[in-house]
Amino acid sequence: MSNNRRQFIKGSLLGGAAIASGAMSQAAGATAAVGASKPLSILILGGTGFIGPHMVREALRRGHSVTLFNRGRSNDELFPDLETIIGDRGGNLAGLQGRKWDAVIDNSGYVPRHVADSAAMLAANVGHYLYISTISVYAAWSAPNDENSALATIADESTEAVTGETYGPLKALCERRAAAAIDADRLTILRPTYICGPGDHTDRFSYWPVRVAKGGDMLLPGGPDYPIQIVDVRDLANFTIDCLDGHISGTYNTVTPVGSYTMGELLADSQAVTATTVEPVWVDEAFVAAAAENNSTQNHGMFPIWHALSGEESRVSSVSGARARAAGLQNRPVRETIRDLLAWWQTLPAERTANMRAGMGAAQEAELIALWRKQSA
Ligand SMILES: NC(=O)c1ccc[n+]([C@@H]2O[C@H](COP(=O)([O-])OP(=O)(O)OC[C@H]3O[C@@H](n4cnc5c(N)ncnc54)[C@H](OP(=O)(O)O)[C@@H]3O)[C@@H](O)[C@H]2O)c1
Repeated sequence: MSNNRRQFIKGSLLGGAAIASGAMSQAAGATAAVGASKPLSILILGGTGFIGPHMVREALRRGHSVTLFNRGRSNDELFPDLETIIGDRGGNLAGLQGRKWDAVIDNSGYVPRHVADSAAMLAANVGHYLYISTISVYAAWSAPNDENSALATIADESTEAVTGETYGPLKALCERRAAAAIDADRLTILRPTYICGPGDHTDRFSYWPVRVAKGGDMLLPGGPDYPIQIVDVRDLANFTIDCLDGHISGTYNTVTPVGSYTMGELLADSQAVTATTVEPVWVDEAFVAAAAENNSTQNHGMFPIWHALSGEESRVSSVSGARARAAGLQNRPVRETIRDLLAWWQTLPAERTANMRAGMGAAQEAELIALWRKQSA
């Protein structure tokens, strides 16, 4: 497995062969029926990590009621007014027994057994099951993927060790477990790419605008025309609640449109938002690959969210989001994502912002720029 692939999957974790079963192919077919909504009772499995709070707030804004289910370990002070059922997906679902909700959002399912257990327990007691998956489920990246593309498989389907290698195949299995328990017309599967915006603890997207704000010579991969794909966490949250409100079932990639955004635009938008100018030093794919191979840091990668256009991961940034957009997903301008995540970034403690979890440190970057200039002199 190449470095880029590892970076993507590992990043998704901390954030990020065909499935031929009848249940899965049914689930992949979209049946959208957007209609006026009544107030819903919504159970969120998770809800206090990165993406969950945005979903909670959007649901409450629309007049729905929300119950959380988690272990009470992460940010448990966030929603003191909401009912929180304490349990563990690993083996304690007792608090869910016999309870009924209009819909459940499963955003903490990484292990197939956990999804199978919650889906089986809730099947008769919830109207709609929405599972947050990932684009890491796809088997290959040398051609553009859409929702019908082949999914990754894993030799040992009983493994519960979630690693960079197993994350994608396990999420694909989680989808199958959900589809086995829930009728296709009551099941929604969302497959986000890199989720970005306020609260993103991976720093993968944040690295670029935060780096731009520092000015000076800046190392950038590939060239200005290289495509990138993200999804703003608020856009994902809006679409998630849209799916519940509109009884939208099926499987959807949630991404910005293919070809709609590039590294050059990320640089330009970041400079505009931060009112800073940098001197870009664009380096080619071969240089990026060599630098990444020699990189010893265990963070989310030196060139986060960027992917080379040659090799076996050449189409990671070309995932079709057409089906989700047809069903109502709206992507805000990325400049807005940059603005809001920087505003959030500035609220973090200094010891946190001093320890960027993705990208390069200043010394490493300066060293690479010097090497590039020497090589290309
Ligand atoms: N970040 C990305 O870019 C990205 C991209 C694609 C897909 N995704 C998907 O997005 C989803 C959520 O992402 P996130 O970053 O918001 O996750 P997160 O920050 O890890 O949040 C996890 C939530 O689940 C709860 N939880 C964790 N383990 C639990 C357990 N054993 N039992 C009960 N509750 C548990 C946590 O609360 P407690 O700790 O209190 O239990 C927390 O509320 C995942 O499904 C991931 O695959 C993320």
